[in-house]
Amino acid sequence: MSDIQQSGAPIKGVLEPIRWNEGTLELLDQRLLPEQTVYLNLTTVQEVWEAIRNLAVRGAPAIGISAAFGVVLGVQHFPGPVTAMADEALRHAAHLATSRPTAVNLFWALDRMKERAKTLAASGVSSREAVEALLAEAKQIQAEDIETNRRIGEHALTLFEDGMGVLTHCNAGGLATSKYGTALAPFYLALEQGIALKVYADETRPVLQGARLTAFELQQAGVDVTLITDNMAAHVMSKGWVQAVIVGTDRVAANGDVANKIGTYGVAVLAKAHNIPFYVACPMSTIDLSTPTGASIPIEERHADEVTVGFGKRTAPEGVKVYNPAFDVTPSELVTAIITEKGIVTAPYDIGLRKLFDE
Ligand code: MRU
Repeated sequence: MSDIQQSGAPIKGVLEPIRWNEGTLELLDQRLLPEQTVYLNLTTVQEVWEAIRNLAVRGAPAIGISAAFGVVLGVQHFPGPVTAMADEALRHAAHLATSRPTAVNLFWALDRMKERAKTLAASGVSSREAVEALLAEAKQIQAEDIETNRRIGEHALTLFEDGMGVLTHCNAGGLATSKYGTALAPFYLALEQGIALKVYADETRPVLQGARLTAFELQQAGVDVTLITDNMAAHVMSKGWVQAVIVGTDRVAANGDVANKIGTYGVAVLAKAHNIPFYVACPMSTIDLSTPTGASIPIEERHADEVTVGFGKRTAPEGVKVYNPAFDVTPSELVTAIITEKGIVTAPYDIGLRKLFDE
């Protein structure tokens, strides 16, 4: 079993995406990776909103944690009484919630901060004490994320055997969380335990999270990773090189439908066609029982430039019509298992997921 001490040691070569440093939120600017390692020093709520919106920080858990610290930034110098400070915190939380629509972890973390602010307002502590308590809550969300991901990794690793080829899509790694990641956590634990896994990373058009982030962080850590373009996945599977697929997710609906980075649904269809298990790894905070099916998950659409201006130049004609959804929904029928910190759930997901929350 894991322990906090073990979780505290950095993974070799994997950068920390989110750091709190004496009143400043330091976010690794993931848009610049793998070429440059630059931390943005953020001191306002609006800066955090923009960092989330513009993908300087991305990945479901990471945006939730960043937003939680964003709330603290918004109130840390608040001069008034605690009730007014709490109102201000709620206002900032409401604004941060508009930064991106799909990953439910954002709303989950902000709800936690709002609840804490309300409790503090009712408790009659000073504004200063309340700010400290809100900061402690944001730090706690981040610390829990590390422990949660390690547990996810431990459960996921039970599904893999030495020598297996495993394909992943997008980046659900240390860069998308506080540490370990969700889908990538078993790869780091395998490395610790001397279990050899061969990872195939889809490059993940249009923003290339697989190429720029997954290939980068796994390579830095010493995991055996091979980068492929998205349209190579079927070919690689047909060769018998992939024994499992594992991806992260931005929101799991009550029926087990899974929203994740655009292209994930296609990978799941390919896995089914090749009789390869398709696993989804996520913290409990990504499971949204209030969303009945994938059809109700809001899918973010992003700017056309992500599709038409790639590789530092225009890659499509000026004025062409573009459709650019950032996520798709994989129907639960294609999901072999969902791996959380509490254990592994298989179909029927409506029953299994609810049971996890009741435990
Ligand atoms: O647009 P992004 O880069 O935020 O999308 C990220 C993903 O789709 C991840 O797979 C998901 O958030 C899980 S991260 C543990």
